[in-house]
Amino acid sequence: MRARIAIFASGDGSNFEAIVSACRSGLWPASECLMGPARPAAGGGAGAARLGVETFAFSARDYASKADYEARIVSLLDERHIDLVCLAGYMRILSSTLLDAWEGRIVNIHPSLLPAFRGADAIGQAMAAGVKVYGVTVHFVTGEVDGGRIIAQRAVHYEGSDREELTAMIHAVEHELYPEAIGRLLGNE
Ligand code: GAR
Repeated sequence: MRARIAIFASGDGSNFEAIVSACRSGLWPASECLMGPARPAAGGGAGAARLGVETFAFSARDYASKADYEARIVSLLDERHIDLVCLAGYMRILSSTLLDAWEGRIVNIHPSLLPAFRGADAIGQAMAAGVKVYGVTVHFVTGEVDGGRIIAQRAVHYEGSDREELTAMIHAVEHELYPEAIGRLLGNE
């Protein structure tokens, strides 16, 4: 059976593109991706258009409440027979409307070795703490920010002070680890 993945990306979209590439390279046989919700102007939206990935662009601002917005997402996921939701730079905290229906089938990537450095700007937090081993975590999503069960982790050793260089190293690891973890979750490895 074809695995169907929905990717929610509202950042630069680099993990979104890594997941789509893995999908198309056959890392997970016969899978397909769609994207949504997305902001049309976000980097991920542009990448989706370039890659020809089906995109559902809608904004929380257009809904009376978060519950209404998430109810729209739940119906979209059901209509499209999605198996797994992958958050990739999607910085909204999910509420019970989505989690009650989907908990256990939503995963996220975070640029630290959780449980260290949860929340925004994890790389900046880790640099400020002076760590020598950074890393990346793929985890299940719960109502607790970056708090769900850990699926996969990889360390990034860096002793320099160049944030751009470190961020590039962390992103490179994310782009390998996330597709690998998704493949394992889908039972294709
Ligand atoms: C990634 O580094 C991801 O780990 C981080 O946002 C970035 C998105 O980059 N996510 C979090 O910090 C979640 N708490 P991308 O848009 O290029 O994939």
